[in-house]
Amino acid sequence: MDFKWFPLDRADVKDVDRIARQIHPTLPERVEVFEEKIRLFPEGCCKFVEAENIVGYGISHPWKLFSVPPLNQLIGSLPDNPDCIYIHDVAVLPEARGHNAAGSFVEIITKLARRMHIQKLSCVSVYGTEALWSRFGFQAASTETMGSKLNSYGNGTKYMIADLA
Ligand SMILES: CC(C)(COP(=O)(O)OP(=O)(O)OC[C@H]1O[C@@H](n2cnc3c(N)ncnc32)[C@H](O)[C@@H]1OP(=O)(O)O)[C@@H](O)C(=O)NCCC(=O)NCCS
Repeated sequence: MDFKWFPLDRADVKDVDRIARQIHPTLPERVEVFEEKIRLFPEGCCKFVEAENIVGYGISHPWKLFSVPPLNQLIGSLPDNPDCIYIHDVAVLPEARGHNAAGSFVEIITKLARRMHIQKLSCVSVYGTEALWSRFGFQAASTETMGSKLNSYGNGTKYMIADLA
């Protein structure tokens, strides 16, 4: 079996929606939310493929540190002076796990950030995935300044930052 990341096309959004519905039943997002991110920043959006089947996706975009786009809402546009690439989501179907999809997606986005002279990655860890993100250099950051911004992501979330410098 050969699992690989490829750029996500706008036509793939139905597969993203299918996988998101299966993996995130408690954190649903409208298909327009995925469409917008793919349109605004295709470079940061990838599909995880095995034998021409899309079995996972990763979505990221430039953003501002200590700011989190509310779940299931459009962002409108990207910031003029981003200081991080925000990893919105990485999701892989259960049968396609065990191939370091998350780690290799972080590597792709790290290279992209470096090309853009962006020094940080950020994400919101959900479902107790803090240990997973820590493996890739993310550290939980203080969320005191973030107010209620994390609320839409549910309980037990951690805002995490990876320093690429
Ligand atoms: C997160 C996700 C993409 C990781 O899948 P993956 O990249 O295939 O991960 P792998 O199975 O290759 O695991 C890589 C390593 O991370 C570990 N790991 C996997 N999921 C983990 C988790 N939730 N918490 C801690 N460690 C985890 C594995 O044990 C493995 O360790 P090993 O190399 O010592 O065996 C997948 O579990 C998933 O889709 N989960 C549901 C969606 C999700 O939680 N996304 C993240 C939202 S913030």
